[in-house]
Amino acid sequence: MSDLSSYEAKIRAAASPAELDVLELDVFSRKHGALTLALKDLATLPAAEKVKKGQELNHWKTVLTDALTERRRTFTAQSVGTLASEDKLDVTLELPPRPRGHLHLIPEFIRQVDDVFARMGFQFVDGPEVESEKYNFNDLNIPEHHPARDSQDTFWLMGNEGETDPAKRFVLRTHTSGVQIRYASTHKPPFRIIYHGKTYRKDSDATHSPMFHQFEGMMVGKDVSLANLKAVLVTAMRELIGRDVEFRFRTGFFPFVEPGLEMDMMWQGDESESREGKWLEMGGCGMVHPNVLKNCGIDPDEWQGFAFGFGVERPLMIKHQIPDLRSFYHGDLRFLRQF
Ligand code: PHE
Repeated sequence: MSDLSSYEAKIRAAASPAELDVLELDVFSRKHGALTLALKDLATLPAAEKVKKGQELNHWKTVLTDALTERRRTFTAQSVGTLASEDKLDVTLELPPRPRGHLHLIPEFIRQVDDVFARMGFQFVDGPEVESEKYNFNDLNIPEHHPARDSQDTFWLMGNEGETDPAKRFVLRTHTSGVQIRYASTHKPPFRIIYHGKTYRKDSDATHSPMFHQFEGMMVGKDVSLANLKAVLVTAMRELIGRDVEFRFRTGFFPFVEPGLEMDMMWQGDESESREGKWLEMGGCGMVHPNVLKNCGIDPDEWQGFAFGFGVERPLMIKHQIPDLRSFYHGDLRFLRQF
């Protein structure tokens, strides 16, 4: 039986499942297996030897079957272990950060404007960037020969030549104030509205750009006052800038408000900034001129209100201490990613 006993050691030392399969056939194959052949030989033995040999073969059958099972189990365990270590899915693993986009500063600020004014009861309305002379100037009480209408300041659309009706002469709106007229002439007071968008003027330097954004509001009611205007603006600007900024109101002239005011904020750049300690104009405001109410079909003896029109870029310059307004439009990702 030395033959069969040698198989035990071979099985235990088998290096792979394939090797194990070969060994299994060597022992148990019905045609040539060593054990099968030995069992066949039993029949040729004398009765006395048969019993002893039979017991011995049975012993080896059990031993070799167990050895095969055990060796197989170690291979299975190893392969599961390999799978677990090579193809593992670790849900706790931290992934490398993925670049994420975000809104540009300007639309982000405009959304905040909507949000802050909505909480004060203002309703969002909209108007076109190509505006008629009537809405951009005439109905806002801006006289025919006012310098604002000058082609030095205003982008006039081609095709106005020969047209005399101001409702049919068009400009790229120089401010968002035309939306006041559009809304007030089609709605009954009381109302509170907020609107914003792109505006165009022939201006370009560190604090002016030929295209810039404004947000503007109007509130009309029975007893809306200048005190209400200040309260609304100070509340909104503090919230939009996100900290307490120094501001001041000074008288300003706009044909569509009386009295008219301008709101300035203190530039708070660091010491090295040239603008340190200077006032930056945020925009204009005031009580709606009676002529404007009349132009909209609203009786100025019964109703009164305020309006304001602010730049979007200016408060953002203050908020983030950006010295040059033109940086907003350069599309330089090193600039944009800071915010
Ligand atoms: N439209 C004015 C401007 O563009 C701002 C303004 C709006 C002033 C409303 C008073 C009232 O400068």
